[in-house]
Amino acid sequence: MPTALVILAAGQGTRMQSERPKVLHQIGGAPLIAHAILSGATLAPDRIVVVTGHGAAEVEAAVTTFDPDAICIRQAEQLGTGHAVLQAAPALEGFEGDVIVLYGDTPFIRPETLHAMLEARKTHDIVFLGFEAADPGRYGRMRMQGDRLLRIVEAADATEEDLAISFCNSGLLAGDAATLMGLLARVKTDNEAGEYYLTDLPALATAEGLSATAIACPEAETLGINTRAELAGAEALFQAGKRAEMLDAGVTLIAPETVHFAYDTHIGRDALVEPHVVFGPGVTVETGAHIRAFSHLEGAHLGADTVVGPYARLRPGTELGNGARIGNFVEVKAARIGEGAKVNHLSYIGDAELGADANIGAGTITCNYDGVMKHRTTIGAGAFIGSNTLLVAPVTVGAEAFTATGSVITEDVPDQAMALARARQVNKPGLAAKLMARLKAIKAGKKEP
Ligand code: UD1
Ligand code: CA
Repeated sequence: MPTALVILAAGQGTRMQSERPKVLHQIGGAPLIAHAILSGATLAPDRIVVVTGHGAAEVEAAVTTFDPDAICIRQAEQLGTGHAVLQAAPALEGFEGDVIVLYGDTPFIRPETLHAMLEARKTHDIVFLGFEAADPGRYGRMRMQGDRLLRIVEAADATEEDLAISFCNSGLLAGDAATLMGLLARVKTDNEAGEYYLTDLPALATAEGLSATAIACPEAETLGINTRAELAGAEALFQAGKRAEMLDAGVTLIAPETVHFAYDTHIGRDALVEPHVVFGPGVTVETGAHIRAFSHLEGAHLGADTVVGPYARLRPGTELGNGARIGNFVEVKAARIGEGAKVNHLSYIGDAELGADANIGAGTITCNYDGVMKHRTTIGAGAFIGSNTLLVAPVTVGAEAFTATGSVITEDVPDQAMALARARQVNKPGLAAKLMARLKAIKAGKKEP
């Protein structure tokens, strides 16, 4: 059965106290809307339709970076969840199959739960996703009769009896596209809020002789994010999940609670991550790598058996060959570090290519930026860059070449050559003692400065 996703993301999220649309706040380095898209994408849907409204242009830009094929539809006025889903109708033109409605601010829905909803569709026309609420509060209450969902009552419209129900509406639902759109066209606004409620569907369906049901999932999965505190709580849950996933996959975390992952962090078996390491988006670590304490990584690929840190910073475009070493207080950006190459201390390597087994001395800097443009530095295999070398790009140092400590390299160095680019040392006998005597005399007031 073909499926399509309709993701609701038009709401403002007033309680976030933010200029930014709610669904663009991030968990694990990805906006909430991306989590909903990625979870829905596991169903391999034929179409993904995102309903945008508040901050539509920004939301649409984020959506297309995660799924260029997603169709964004604007809901000019937020007239309710039922109205929002109806806006997707033109984007579903010609689609035959099931629609699954997701919320852009509900990031933890598991693929298994979506599959369970589709499974329940085999026996019912409309399937809502519910959960046992610890505190039912403002959630819609599910009125069940056996496995039939008769109606959903919004808290504002509920009687005392309804309010006692703890089986609540997550908002997610599945149903045949044509059936849903047909029913939605008949939803009215005769409720406390004066909105078009998606939750009117079960009663409308039942009146038509169709069957609606609700399946349950754990409350944690339906967690919606409305405030900064909920966002922080959701991040903590996400991190706890990622840590458990990494440990299960054979990654050693010495102090798991101090390591932060991104939504797309991949780490191979037998890698070791020391305490206080932060993974931004786009990091892949191969087997046997060792990431030492207080390192910050984003957009980097670490080959097998690499050693990084402590206190290393790997920025986007970093590619470490197998066995490469990046030591303390080293920053790497848009650079390929060859197999077995070493950058062990206090260096900046940006827009560069280092050959295999090159050794970069402490304090080396690739001067990649002239204030307007970026330039590349190329260092050959087995080259030895002396401590405190400045490599003024664009520049190439050949294979097995050597730069003398403290050199400012502005010209290419041929293979196996030695480059000296610093002033020659001059010794003045006795001058240090003479200078000190003079300074002390000035301080004591016995001499004019
Ligand atoms: C909704 C449900 C409620 C359920 C709860 C779960 C309805 C009427 N109520 O209430 O039963 O328990 O979710 O969290 O459906 N949105 C739009 N356009 C609109 C209105 C909403 O895109 O015109 C989006 C919002 O951005 C949000 C989602 O739909 O992502 C839910 O809307 P929200 O206003 O938060 O619904 P609730 O009042 O929480
Ligand atoms: Ca909500």
